Amino acid sequence: MNPIVSSSAAATPPKRIQPIVYFIGLTAALAGLLFGLDVGVISGAIDFIKTDFKVGDRSIEYIVSALLWGAAAGALFSGILSNKLGRRKTILLSAVNFIIGAILCAFAQDENWLIVARLILGIAVGVASFTAPLYLSEVSPQSVRGSLISMYQLMITIGIVLAFLSNTYLATYATIGGITGGHWRIMLGIIALPAAVMFIGVWFLPESPRWLFMKGLREKAVAVFKGMHLDDAEIAAEVREIEDSVKVKQGGFELLTGNSNFRRVIALGVGLQIIQQLTGINVIMYYAPQIFKMAGFADTNQQMWGTVIVGVTNVLATFIAIAFVDKLGRKPIMYAGFVTMGLSLVAVGSIFLAGGVLHDVTNAKGVVEHQIFLQSTDYAYPAIFALLIFVVGFAMSAGPIIWVLCSEVYPLQGRDLGVTFSTGTNWIVNAIVGMTFLTLLTHLGPGYTFLLYGGMNVLFIFFFLAFVPETKGISLEHIERNLMSGLPLRKIGR
Ligand code: BGC
Repeated sequence: MNPIVSSSAAATPPKRIQPIVYFIGLTAALAGLLFGLDVGVISGAIDFIKTDFKVGDRSIEYIVSALLWGAAAGALFSGILSNKLGRRKTILLSAVNFIIGAILCAFAQDENWLIVARLILGIAVGVASFTAPLYLSEVSPQSVRGSLISMYQLMITIGIVLAFLSNTYLATYATIGGITGGHWRIMLGIIALPAAVMFIGVWFLPESPRWLFMKGLREKAVAVFKGMHLDDAEIAAEVREIEDSVKVKQGGFELLTGNSNFRRVIALGVGLQIIQQLTGINVIMYYAPQIFKMAGFADTNQQMWGTVIVGVTNVLATFIAIAFVDKLGRKPIMYAGFVTMGLSLVAVGSIFLAGGVLHDVTNAKGVVEHQIFLQSTDYAYPAIFALLIFVVGFAMSAGPIIWVLCSEVYPLQGRDLGVTFSTGTNWIVNAIVGMTFLTLLTHLGPGYTFLLYGGMNVLFIFFFLAFVPETKGISLEHIERNLMSGLPLRKIGR
């Protein structure tokens, strides 16, 4: 998920939005769907890959996180790519990359092949996660910008659920070539299909008018707006806004050395993204079936359906954020979300400490491992309930709102660089979380691992108290003025 460049310019009065605008929005938001599909798909494949390739937890952690390292790299250089090639060509390129990556994953012959294939696929995720929201924010008329960008965020969570559903079908029900279930190669390969749909759809999209302006192609930019059936007054308003913002030359790395206010706000954005990932959400997104297994649900079918319920909860709770973010403000929702996440993970951890029983399990390599499982449903159901409450806490707060804050706090001149930093950080910490969960389980056991994440969520509340501004209803110019005048970060939204 990514840079949501909101605009503070006065909105033109709402006009009837032409269907073409929704076509553009929906097609570009397909990138969000692919992002979600790729995040969600691995959880269902892990167990089968373990058995087929006879690999242990360390290899699985590499396979999971390879995509995330690729995405970090992709996000870090996509600023340059989308500036040179244009937004549309960059998204097209990422669609081709998605297709190649997914096919390579499906045909993997061993763990190293799969790691490299996921790394390549990750680059596509990173590039798309930077460029598609940027394109969306640039191409959508002011009056629907917010809703088109929210649609992108929602698409990510929907992508995750679709991947969980397709995993469930392929893991347990589908009979292919006389074999029922366990089709992990198809799970990973099938993502080439939506990627192909995205390629075809994006082929018909216009280039971003803002980018055309930056490259001096004014006539072409106006033609794009005409193609979207905007009337003359709307086109004039869009052109005025673009001309104003294009005048502000995006600064590069010199901003970091030259201006301490800029350094402060980069630290804020990076801190927010570190926090988003250290909530532990992706431990659940990547390893949900394993967690269900530890909770005592031995049957693959139960694990897969449990995972689907996690995904649906994630989608539904996102609507809470969408409904309240502009009414209650960012910070009250964040406090509610982090208290919910902290308490629910402490509950999960405590249940594992109270009800966990040590078992000897022979792993795919034939080695006997000690693993902790919940023995009775008296413990299992409360543990899963608390886990779902955690997902609600995340989806209503940190999930969407960290991205919103990161799009609001940077001064215009440094927005590209700032978003590059915070997005890159999101993927790097995401990879670290994906890479360490199974190791933490082995060394600390599930009880202390969840307590650790729970405790961190509680601590993060102090970060919000000390450093995070409330930005509800405040213009981006006002935030920028406050920041540059040296006000403490907490107060730049006043
Ligand atoms: C996060 C992702 C996460 C997703 C879950 C996003 O906001 O950045 O890392 O997988 O939410 O819905």
